Amino acid sequence: MDNINQKFKQKKIQKNFFPTKYKKGIRLHEPTYNLDEINEVIKTLLSTRLTFGPKTKKFEAAFSKIIKSRYSMYVNSGSSANLLALSVLTNPYFKNRLKPGDEVIVPALSWSTSVWPIIQCNLKPVFVDINRETMNIDVSKIEKAITKRTKCILVIHTYGNAAEIDKLLKLKKKYGLFLIEDTCESLGTKFKKKYCGTFGDIGTYSFYFSHHLTTVEGGMMVTQNKEISNIAKMLRAHGWIRDLENKEKKKLEKKYSNIDKKFLFTNIGYNIRGSEIGATIGLIQLKKLKKIISIRQKIGKFWKKYFKNNNIFSIQKETVNSEHSWFGIPIYLKRQNPELVKKLRKLLDKNNIETRPIICGNITVQPAMKKLKYKISGTLENSDYIMKNSFAIGCHQNITKDNLLYATKIIEKVHK
Ligand SMILES: Cc1ncc(COP(=O)(O)O)c(C=O)c1O
Repeated sequence: MDNINQKFKQKKIQKNFFPTKYKKGIRLHEPTYNLDEINEVIKTLLSTRLTFGPKTKKFEAAFSKIIKSRYSMYVNSGSSANLLALSVLTNPYFKNRLKPGDEVIVPALSWSTSVWPIIQCNLKPVFVDINRETMNIDVSKIEKAITKRTKCILVIHTYGNAAEIDKLLKLKKKYGLFLIEDTCESLGTKFKKKYCGTFGDIGTYSFYFSHHLTTVEGGMMVTQNKEISNIAKMLRAHGWIRDLENKEKKKLEKKYSNIDKKFLFTNIGYNIRGSEIGATIGLIQLKKLKKIISIRQKIGKFWKKYFKNNNIFSIQKETVNSEHSWFGIPIYLKRQNPELVKKLRKLLDKNNIETRPIICGNITVQPAMKKLKYKISGTLENSDYIMKNSFAIGCHQNITKDNLLYATKIIEKVHK
């Protein structure tokens, strides 16, 4: 290990492990970890406690403290956090559970595994269009989509931009709906100074390699509700009671004293736990989070200023009363011209400025939807528009001013 440390200091390992810093160009993402994480992971491996142990508990507690959630459950991906959220709300032991065929309102500009768990839990997604500028669900169109079967809104804070949470909370109250906040792209995003993911019944986060904070793969489900948290802890790991808080656990152990308490299954479940290795990385990453978000915000500011008076392009508009935590830089055309987007993306990619579409685009046109049961409320013209007339470039801690200026030169080649 000392040898590794030595070499790392000499930049040899840095060069081998992190060869990605472009002098010119911008990658979509670059590693956020370094020797701090590597050393701690080695210690965890040597401890031989590799799953659901002290590191996970510490990571969950530290996460809860930062974002101010009462309960946080570390899982193996953001997709699993979404699956867990919907599985809890439809679980037979959940008092106010959703029934098969109940409707969940969701933005059409979605990620696949924001939508698939709705279907996997026998619920029906109802797609509502987005606001083209904020790229978030158009809240003014939600009420029209509400029927007697509507029981939940699953909102996505797109690319680090907060959805209009105050309006969503009003609808939640008026119609007695559950609210799930898919915050997988938006760790650190705030609405009225409070972290997104903590307003609704459940919030989900992703710690995939390219996100603000990584545990390689990983995610978190948070809630302020004890019943939701208790059921989630069982569903996360086999349906057994081991991970419940002591009081709950003792109650069940007593009730079923004829069964070995270590192998007492009181619910159905998955195994979607995160590992101690991931939690070890997450704990170190949490210390860097503030800095990482602040660099991303500076980059966001640069592009905001750059595109301010541009006649052709615009970047995602920050929601009023919110603080953006840029996941990437989503750029869209003011007037539709898909060919221009194709041309620019080709040129950028060729010049080492990597590009990608915004989430999955309008998810309803993805082939996987063909055999699924869903509803569309109104038109999805803005989701379609963004799918065809936009793209994103990277926003991460390694981007320098030179990288940014270089990117502007490439962009100018197309629209001058
Ligand atoms: C909005 C949204 N939800 C869920 C996920 C799934 O997260 P994961 O990749 O950790 O499974 C993603 C992935 O980026 C996402 O963008």
